[in-house]
Amino acid sequence: MSDQAEKLRALVQQQNEKHPALVPPPIGTSPLSVVPPSDDPPVLVPSAAAKTPVSDIAEAIPPLVAGAGPRFKTRTIVVTSGKGGVGKTNLTVNLALAFAKRGMKTLLFDADLGMANLDVLLGISPPHSLADVIDARMKLEEVIFPISENLELVPGGSGISELANLPADRLEKLLASLSEIEGRSEILLIDTGAGISRQVMDFVMAAHEVIVVTTPEPTAITDAYGMIKALNAQNPGATVHLLVNQADTEQEARSVSAKLTMIVERFLEIKLHFLGFVEKDVNVGRAVLQQRPFSVLYPYSVATRRVSILVGKLLVQSEEPTVREGFFSRFFHRLSK
Ligand SMILES: Nc1ncnc2c1ncn2[C@@H]1O[C@H](COP(=O)(O)OP(=O)(O)O)[C@@H](O)[C@H]1O
Ligand SMILES: [Mg+2]
Repeated sequence: MSDQAEKLRALVQQQNEKHPALVPPPIGTSPLSVVPPSDDPPVLVPSAAAKTPVSDIAEAIPPLVAGAGPRFKTRTIVVTSGKGGVGKTNLTVNLALAFAKRGMKTLLFDADLGMANLDVLLGISPPHSLADVIDARMKLEEVIFPISENLELVPGGSGISELANLPADRLEKLLASLSEIEGRSEILLIDTGAGISRQVMDFVMAAHEVIVVTTPEPTAITDAYGMIKALNAQNPGATVHLLVNQADTEQEARSVSAKLTMIVERFLEIKLHFLGFVEKDVNVGRAVLQQRPFSVLYPYSVATRRVSILVGKLLVQSEEPTVREGFFSRFFHRLSK
C-alpha cells in the first residue's frame, strides 16, 4: 500500500499544481464570482443521460456547464450523521433544490455506498453511476444526470469502496475528473452514509464544511456526538453545522442543540454551529412514497419552509476567503494514508 500511497501523494500534488485550489467567495455576496476558464478547459461530452426522458420535475435541460463554460468557486458541503435513517438524503435533495431555486448552480453527489438512493427520492433512473466511472467504463461527465435548470446529480455506486485498491493510473484519471467537477457548480452537496465507517469518514474528513444531521432521539444524539468527536480528532478545521430533523417543536430542537453544544464545548475543541431544524412533517413520508422531493410535491409544507430558511442561513454565513485544497484532492490524500 505504501508504494501506491507514495504515487498517489505525488499525483495529488500534480493535480494541485494543475488545478490550484479555488478561493471560496464571501458567501452571501451573490452572485458568486466566476473563475475565468483555466488554460485547459474541460471538454464536457453531453451526457447520454441528458437524452433520457426525466420526470416532470426535470425537464430535459442541457448540462449546466458545457465546453469552455464558466468555472465556479465551489462551496462543498458534506451531509452526514452518526445514526442512519435520520433524514439526510431527504434533506440533501431538498436543500439542493432550494439552492437551485435561488439560481445557484448546484451539483448533488451521492456518496452513500450502502444505499445510494438520491435517484430514488428524485424519482429518476439514471442509466449510469459513479461505479461506471470507477470501473473506467465511462467518463464522469457522461454519468452526470440533469435534474432541473440549475441542478445535476452524480448518481452513486457501490464501486466507491474499491477506490483504495485501484491502480495508480486509474486513480489519477479519477482524481482529475473529480477535481474538474469541483469547479462545475457553485454548490456541491454530498450525501453520505451514516456512522464512522472508513468509507463515510473519508468523505467527511476531507470536507471543509459538514452538516451533521440528528433527530431528538437519544441514540441519534449520542451517535451525532461520536461523529463530531471523530471530526474533532481528524478534521478539526472543518466548519460543523448541526441540523436537528424530525423535531416536535422548535423548543425541542433548540434543547437538543443546547445539550450537544454543551458536551462538545466541554470535551472537544471543535465548534458546533446550530444551523437550524426541520419539524416532523407527514408530507416528508408522503413524498418519499411517491418518490418525489417533498419541496416539489408540497411547496407550502412546514418542511419545505424550513429547508428554505436553512439555505438562507447557509448563504449568509461567510467563510474566510483563504486558499484551500480542493475537496477531492483532500479526499484522495486521505485514501492514500
Ligand atoms: N422531517 C421529517 N418528518 C417526517 N419524517 C421524516 C422527516 N425526515 C425524514 N423523515 C423520514 O425518515 C425516513 C428516512 O429518511 P432518509 O432521508 O432516507 O434518512 P437517511 O438518509 O438519514 O438514512 C424517510 O423515509 C422519511 O419518512
Ligand atoms: Mg440516506
